[in-house]
Amino acid sequence: MTTDKLGYQAPSEIKELDIVNTYDLEKQAGELLPKGGFDYIAGGAGDEYTLKQNIDAFNLKRILPRVLADVEYPKTQTSIFGQDIPSPIIMAPIAAHGLAHQSKEVGTAKGVSEYGTILTISTYSGSDFDETAKVVNDTPKWFQLYMSKDNEVNKAILDEAKADGASAIILTADATTMGNREKDKRNAFVFPFDMPIVSRHLRKSVEDQLLNIIYMESKQKITVEDVRFIAEYSELPVMVKGIQSPEDALKAIEAGAAGIWVSNHGGRQLDGAPASFETLASISEVVAKRVPIIFDSGVRRGEHVFKALASGADIVAIGRPVLYGLALGGWKGVTSVFNYFEKDLKRIMQLAGTQTIEDIKNTELF
Ligand code: FNR
Repeated sequence: MTTDKLGYQAPSEIKELDIVNTYDLEKQAGELLPKGGFDYIAGGAGDEYTLKQNIDAFNLKRILPRVLADVEYPKTQTSIFGQDIPSPIIMAPIAAHGLAHQSKEVGTAKGVSEYGTILTISTYSGSDFDETAKVVNDTPKWFQLYMSKDNEVNKAILDEAKADGASAIILTADATTMGNREKDKRNAFVFPFDMPIVSRHLRKSVEDQLLNIIYMESKQKITVEDVRFIAEYSELPVMVKGIQSPEDALKAIEAGAAGIWVSNHGGRQLDGAPASFETLASISEVVAKRVPIIFDSGVRRGEHVFKALASGADIVAIGRPVLYGLALGGWKGVTSVFNYFEKDLKRIMQLAGTQTIEDIKNTELF
């Protein structure tokens, strides 16, 4: 471990992880990381009711075992926007990976790329996008955008993301103001110096005051016009992230969204909101397979991936567990987390009598 300018000590070890479950990972990461960084990652808004519900709500639906199903060695391969991926499991966009490991987003990118799935890069990344993009080869890169009030800034960020090889844009629409993160207040948490850096363009213009300035400027009035603008300006597929209601899903599709990202930001924004899983089936019904659905918030086991796919998701994104893998084992830890989810999903597929991802999607939960 080394200390950065403000004394934040992120781990640096690189090793494969032997994962029993992702709850153990969280516990181990909690023992290793500085308190401020761990609480920022693990915490949620307010009473953390929604954070807890995100996991608990998966138990509201059950998977019926199917035993005479003629299934062996289930296959998890799938594709999205024409990209083949080894399983329907990707990582969610997350800010400031340097809180978890010294290798920052570069480490995560290598781990994701090694596994072979899609890399998502947050606006509040801690490594330069081009630096991160360099460590992966043909791994598809999706860039997540937090909109600024200043459209010239939005254009500059989109230009940069495109130049660095982004193949899709994720517009995060549920963070127009910060959730009430009480642990961060209690810890007087501030990002360590030079983290996150957002983009070369913005870093040059505002330097280390960056985060405050961006938050102050962050756009609150996000509308369907913004979805249209990003799709037209970037000429890339745009997914709207943070969708929790059928009405918003319909609005996004009408505005030209190429994908609906069902998420409640891992319970970090509106506490008192339902579990993300509880909202999925009704959204899937109105989307009616017109565009792919990406789902996140609370996915901790293969069962959860299975239940999300059976409730209408095409792809499932994992948030905190990927960062815990990064903390505990650098890029190798990230790959271990994806391997864990794939293995666990395959076990569930076998026991539920489903040979393919398509079979899961045709499964009715009990
Ligand atoms: C996030 N999330 C997030 N989302 C986003 O669109 N841009 C971002 O920069 C971040 N940053 C971020 C930081 C941290 C520490 C966390 C835990 C989450 C939300 C993320 O994409 C995703 O929605 C949740 O993490 C999913 O929930 P789970 O899997 O963590 O329960």
